[in-house]
Amino acid sequence: MSVAMPMNAKYRKTIIAGNWKMNLSPRDAREFIRELKPLAVQAKWCDIVLCVPYLQIPEAVRTARGSRIAIGAQNCHQETAGAYTGEISAPMLVEAGVKYVIVGHSERRRDFGETDSLVNRKVLSALKAGLRPIVCVGETLEMRDNDITLDVVRMQVKTALRGVTREELRRGTIAYEPGWAIGTGYTATAKQANEVSAVIRAALRTVYGAQGARGVSILYGGSMNTGNARDLLAQPDVDGGLIGGASMRTESFGKIIEAANQNVPQK
Ligand code: PGA
Repeated sequence: MSVAMPMNAKYRKTIIAGNWKMNLSPRDAREFIRELKPLAVQAKWCDIVLCVPYLQIPEAVRTARGSRIAIGAQNCHQETAGAYTGEISAPMLVEAGVKYVIVGHSERRRDFGETDSLVNRKVLSALKAGLRPIVCVGETLEMRDNDITLDVVRMQVKTALRGVTREELRRGTIAYEPGWAIGTGYTATAKQANEVSAVIRAALRTVYGAQGARGVSILYGGSMNTGNARDLLAQPDVDGGLIGGASMRTESFGKIIEAANQNVPQK
């Protein structure tokens, strides 16, 4: 029996991306990817990305070669080269075999003072180098309590993508990550996640038109786990997940991939 393709799967991919943050070693990366490979073969409906620490990139790229697992970085510098001690540029990541890069994660905004305009420069640099940026946006608890979530997120999206062409946007992914749900065990409800994702898509529509906007995958991130993934991924405007805690074990990450794979055809 053939499964009908969901409307939105015609236009955009479901992406399940892991964000290991500052965890796991190169050896862990090798073992993890070896275990994940057989699962990745079966996940026809979604793209799998693992965003590992810089040092783990060579081992991760080597081990993932020939599989459907793409390797991502968690940050990049906005310049291509120069006197920026301790930094890594987008072209360097490309040369190392990296395909995706997380830009503007809330931890970087909070702990390293990244502003929307810096995020924009990083996005432009990543796109110019040929990477696929995963642009993170989202409100803090205070913003949600003050009922300014939708305005904040709209502004973050527009600023982060300033100067990005419609052609380049096709390589872009947005991750909606409410700061209050990251690493806290609190998750946005499926309804909340979909509401904000729909607003993000509407903001994209005003700049890129309906056709441009419907091709962009919008991921949800913030304590996504094996228990809530199915529900979140079933939402029409949620096209995948950016997963921290639950991406560090193949068992939980694999289950989320399975949920995405089963969910998409039923949307
Ligand atoms: P979490 O992290 O799944 O551990 O909440 C998500 C993220 O920070 O991308």
